[in-house]
Amino acid sequence: MPTHAKLRVFSLGEVEVPVGIFINNEWVEASSSETFSTTNPATGEKSLDFAHASKEDVDKAVKAARKAFKTTWGNNIQATKRAAVLFKLADLMERDTERLAALESITTGKGIRMVRTTELADSIACLRYYAGLADKLHGQTITSFGKEKFVYTVHQPIGVCGQIIPWNDPIMMWAWKVAPALAAGCTLVLKPSELTPLTALLMCDLAKEAGIPAGVLNTLPGFGSTTGDAIARHMNIDKVAFTGSVVTGRRISIAAAESNLKKVNLELGGKSPILVFDSADVEEAANWTALAIWFNSGQYCCAGSRVYIQEGVYEKFITALKQRAEACAIGQPHDEKTSFGPLICETQRDKVLNYIVSGKEAGARVVTGGEKWPQSNGGFWIEPTILADTTPDMRVVKEEIFGPVIVAAPFSTEEQAVELANDTTYGLAAAVFTNDTRQVARVTSALDAGTVWCNQYAFVHPSVPFGGFKQSGTGPELGTYGMEAYMQVKAVHQNLTQRMKWPM
Ligand SMILES: *[C@@H]1O[C@H](CO)[C@@H](O)[C@H](O)[C@H]1NC(C)=O
Ligand SMILES: *[C@@H]1O[C@H](CO)[C@@H](O)[C@H](O)[C@H]1NC(C)=O
Ligand SMILES: *[C@@H]1O[C@H](CO)[C@@H](O)[C@H](O)[C@H]1NC(C)=O
Ligand SMILES: *[C@@H]1O[C@H](CO)[C@@H](O)[C@H](O)[C@H]1NC(C)=O
Repeated sequence: MPTHAKLRVFSLGEVEVPVGIFINNEWVEASSSETFSTTNPATGEKSLDFAHASKEDVDKAVKAARKAFKTTWGNNIQATKRAAVLFKLADLMERDTERLAALESITTGKGIRMVRTTELADSIACLRYYAGLADKLHGQTITSFGKEKFVYTVHQPIGVCGQIIPWNDPIMMWAWKVAPALAAGCTLVLKPSELTPLTALLMCDLAKEAGIPAGVLNTLPGFGSTTGDAIARHMNIDKVAFTGSVVTGRRISIAAAESNLKKVNLELGGKSPILVFDSADVEEAANWTALAIWFNSGQYCCAGSRVYIQEGVYEKFITALKQRAEACAIGQPHDEKTSFGPLICETQRDKVLNYIVSGKEAGARVVTGGEKWPQSNGGFWIEPTILADTTPDMRVVKEEIFGPVIVAAPFSTEEQAVELANDTTYGLAAAVFTNDTRQVARVTSALDAGTVWCNQYAFVHPSVPFGGFKQSGTGPELGTYGMEAYMQVKAVHQNLTQRMKWPM
């Protein structure tokens, strides 16, 4: 099949886009003729056919990545050179903002303004953050041995890394994975989600233009069970980083363990709680909670999907949140006003609708929403939904829905609130709304979550680590931690005066 195809994109008209495999800075034919197609979430129509990378293609990519690691990247070039190409790549993304935003919007169904101002802007910022960090994470000198010896540590790039990225924020998840890994000196074999492979492929041409050497960034569209599995099981990949569901994360861990025990970094799901105390500013808390659950139509891992409200403000808060639900800017992706788009696919839409039915059957009160958006036509929209009066045993309270559905329940005391919040297998994020600073301190320390927002929600930044407790993951991305995750530490003991007598 050809490596490029035409796609009609909003006001851009017909655009040529890559649909093949990118290895060694070249578009190459897949080794098999297998393809898969994507669907436009806003229309339900078939969008593009992509090459389906096989195990042999993964092998080829790993060889290219290994060669680059040993010659043109990693320890072979100065960190400032890696920084320079990452800065250049950020500039190119900025130059191509309109094209990238339109393509990301049509691929995911997100409102184009949201893509431009949040995810694309954050992705560019992420590249610049790691470009700046590339030459700043050093080892230690350990001088505790007097004249006997000298010890220092060296931070070395791990090597060839597999990266498997999700469909919910394709460009941002690409940046979160690629920027720290390239800054650290690793080379990559990357698989985008089969639902949204286009973004990562578009970035290949920009990466080449920015001067990233051949073999450093290889991109292979495909399914998790084939391409993803080949990456996770590859004997010559040193690390695999994955963002997605717990079920897949577990499979990747097993594949890594059964092959070469490659290092595994997982960023998995969440069922993040929001605690609203009587003393909180209810209107402000409702605004942040609306963002927490309805940003990206609820399709992001740290969505605030459970809200617990102190009895004194329960009904008042529910009413305020209902107003926010009904004010969501639901619409078409190309419309500048839209901030609430469709779900990614039919399966996801139906899964969310089934959750809503299960909530109702279990006795939850539908405050608002609960149905397909009446103007969906063929698209996969679901109305912003609030299920109130839920109880801890309900599936809608226990399981991640990954859609625009928030469950709400009252609490009376702070102890009870913390207990409800922690009563989950996840631990990605949490939030507390209160005007009592001592309560903020107590509650933030008691919450089992990798991120805790106090009187706000959802804002992340490249300089701030982000990762999960419990089954939400295995360690933070972003910040200096995010780059250290792509480095291994070598301790060097250098003899000064120590002598060895034998036998000892
Ligand atoms: C905090 O909330 C309490 C209870 O609503 C209120 O009496 C108090 O004035 C608030 N304090 C501040 C600083 O807003
Ligand atoms: C909540 O959002 C509305 C709409 O933008 C805004 O008018 C209002 O000031 C916000 N409320 C608070 C308390 O921030
Ligand atoms: C969080 O709450 C759970 C459930 O009550 C409890 O087992 C756990 O110890 C709590 N964590 C902290 C840090 O208090
Ligand atoms: C370690 O250092 C001592 C003192 O300089 C030296 O005598 C010895 O040969 C060194 N050992 C080795 C293996 O170089």
